[in-house]
Amino acid sequence: MTDVQQQIDESGTVRIGDRTINRLSFGAMRLADKEIWGPPADRGNAVRVARRAVELGVNHIDTADSYAFGVTEEILREALHPYPDDLLIATKAGQAQVRPGVWEPVGRPAYLRQQCEASLRRLGTERIDLFYLHRVDPLVPFDDQIGAMRELQDEGKIAHFGLSSVTVDQIESAQKIIDVTAVQNIFNVAARVGEDVLEHCEREQIPFIAWFPIMSGELALANSVVAEVAAELNATPAQVALAWLLNRSSVLCPIPGTSSITHLEENVAASALRLTDEHLARLAPLRLAEDELAQLLAAGSAQE
Ligand SMILES: NC(=O)c1ccc[n+]([C@@H]2O[C@H](COP(=O)([O-])OP(=O)(O)OC[C@H]3O[C@@H](n4cnc5c(N)ncnc54)[C@H](OP(=O)(O)O)[C@@H]3O)[C@@H](O)[C@H]2O)c1
Repeated sequence: MTDVQQQIDESGTVRIGDRTINRLSFGAMRLADKEIWGPPADRGNAVRVARRAVELGVNHIDTADSYAFGVTEEILREALHPYPDDLLIATKAGQAQVRPGVWEPVGRPAYLRQQCEASLRRLGTERIDLFYLHRVDPLVPFDDQIGAMRELQDEGKIAHFGLSSVTVDQIESAQKIIDVTAVQNIFNVAARVGEDVLEHCEREQIPFIAWFPIMSGELALANSVVAEVAAELNATPAQVALAWLLNRSSVLCPIPGTSSITHLEENVAASALRLTDEHLARLAPLRLAEDELAQLLAAGSAQE
């Protein structure tokens, strides 16, 4: 076992239904091209990154049907099928990318069903470990969207169900129809969006999967208090951003995305990084205003 493999154990674990995963996880969206619209320029590299993640002990990988029209699911299959028993792959349906960087919810039950079938084929599996409703579609009755997921679960096509980008009310409404075993919302040291959802997940012991954990690379830059703290710890800013999330709550699971093996190894190694109370106090005031966050999300094509 390498040092980094030992380190991932230090991120701790959570339960997703009947499965146990290491909290430090991996987001596969960046295995596509920069716009998340087509295949990566170097597919071999993407395959190597996915394999390296599992070698390093990652056992929870996040993807979606809409990441480059299924390209990231296909890459995961090429890299990892037949899947190790302890690997949980989560995918999503319910959001379409209609133009590069333009994402729209699509929650009609027939569409959710079709996308589930497509993901099953691309992943080469008979059952999806964890299937999210990627976005709640305001134009479709909520219970119809959740009911479609319940049907897929009753038919054995999905093992566990999760919600993405939701409020506490939506989680509670969905729970009346189906077990919600994971919630995936935007969250990082500078964008603490919806802390009431995190508190709800803590009370209910639902894993909170944090997307945008390094803020699309913004938190890895050398121009902030994150970088100052990193320098004192002989760590990188991205590692401090991830360590902050792991420290913030025992239900938080960051899913940093990368197309780089070096960044992947660095991110996994953040599992063992410990922040002192003094570091946490210095990071506490770091909060983006809502318009700053909106600008950041709009700037990258890959915000969804
Ligand atoms: N539920 C949702 O609606 C939703 C929305 C968006 C994303 N997601 C999921 O969340 C995952 C993460 O989201 P994200 O990719 O937008 O945000 P992120 O993980 O915060 O940022 C990824 C970006 O940061 C860079 N990066 C990663 N590690 C780095 C490091 N150690 N040093 C410097 N730069 C680093 C990557 O570039 P390099 O490739 O150069 O490393 C990439 O451009 C996605 O993969 C996806 O699975 C879910």
